[in-house]
Amino acid sequence: MSKPYGRTIYRRQLLRFLFSSPLLALPGATWLGDRLEASETTSEIPRGPIITSPSEAVNVFDFEAAAREKLPPAHFGYLTTGVDDDATLRANRAGFSKFQIRPRRLVDVASVDPSLDLFGATWKSPIVLAPAASQKAFHPDGEIAAARAAGAKGHLMILSTGTTASFEDVRAAHGGPIWFQLYPTDTWRIAQALVKRAEAAGCPVLVLTVDLPAGRNTETERRFARTDTRQCSSCHAPGLSGYVRRKPMFDRLDVTGVGLFSPQLTWDVVRRLKDTTRMKLVLKGIETQEDAELCLRHGVDGIIVSNHGGRAEESGRSTIECLPEIVDAVRGRIPILIDSGFRRGTDVFKALALGARAIGIGRPYLWGLAAFGQPGVERILEILNREFELMMRHAGVTSLAKLDRSFVVDRRRT
Ligand SMILES: Cc1cc2nc3c(=O)[nH]c(=O)nc-3n(C[C@H](O)[C@H](O)[C@H](O)COP(=O)(O)O)c2cc1C
Repeated sequence: MSKPYGRTIYRRQLLRFLFSSPLLALPGATWLGDRLEASETTSEIPRGPIITSPSEAVNVFDFEAAAREKLPPAHFGYLTTGVDDDATLRANRAGFSKFQIRPRRLVDVASVDPSLDLFGATWKSPIVLAPAASQKAFHPDGEIAAARAAGAKGHLMILSTGTTASFEDVRAAHGGPIWFQLYPTDTWRIAQALVKRAEAAGCPVLVLTVDLPAGRNTETERRFARTDTRQCSSCHAPGLSGYVRRKPMFDRLDVTGVGLFSPQLTWDVVRRLKDTTRMKLVLKGIETQEDAELCLRHGVDGIIVSNHGGRAEESGRSTIECLPEIVDAVRGRIPILIDSGFRRGTDVFKALALGARAIGIGRPYLWGLAAFGQPGVERILEILNREFELMMRHAGVTSLAKLDRSFVVDRRRT
């Protein structure tokens, strides 16, 4: 009896030692003993048991463990993965610590207004649901639940090409003008059909994702999938025709021989899209000043600074660090949004102070969705809004228009 017990104690001590090691105090995937660990939670503060209702959550990280508990390993792997060593995923979080906040005092902050005006629409908050494919892999209500939550709370939602509910149904569930994100595929006929359908359904803004021209190396996803004992091939068939089986935006489109990602996605496609649609065109995945300048030259209406949540190339560079050079290049001529790694109200505050108009979240609302459906997404939004508004008050900022670079210190080069 004593031997295995002793071994358990030793194992627990070892795990505790490993957990407290700075090397492992990093989010991302790690093999720990016989278990694949992937967590964004870095704090050493005791977290308590896994939450069983949205109201128990103290911050958005609390939803990650609850999501992991509910999801099959392969689906959690898809949600959590970065690429290669997940270094860019970690960089996105670490980047925020390179900017510090300069609060101002003695301002009347009894009332603060975090509302956002963007392309003629007003939203209650600058926090946007970023496009994420396949949400029924996380909860049976998928995008419909996310849309209901975003609509109820007054947030903009961007719907992925890879949605598992149709644009028309998601728009109805949201109740407001949602945006459509486009993977144009490698076939113009398909891109045109997707664009026309979104436009006909009343979409005001088209978001072209430009950071995945060549597939990606999602090792963490593959490792999680290997621990899944279910028969995945009963849902997932190979190739694009397999992928689109549960993707209503491709209904009635012949995708024989079509590729989802195109290595020939160039500025030419941007030009063609501008000629094809009256919707505003926003490019998602811009990370440099040079490309921001080209966006302006090609008549692009807005930019989303994004590295796909560390799921595209392993650049090792956080989006918050990319933001200042893009803001400097654009000089207020078109709105800049940003996503990747936003988990705290202070993150939102720093990005808006640096010149972003709005920020997108991906994994946090998907954790909320996976764990509790619509109420989970609503609680994620409540927590982030509450943290952001608290930071506005602490810093003496009463509206987004009053937020500027004087509220942050850039520590990147000091
Ligand atoms: C599960 C998942 C699916 C995603 N699907 C898409 C997609 O279909 N189109 C797209 O442009 N971005 C997609 N993204 C990227 C998000 O739009 C966003 O850039 C990213 O999640 C932001 O980083 P965060 O997860 O750290 O908040 C996806 C992200 C995740 C986590």
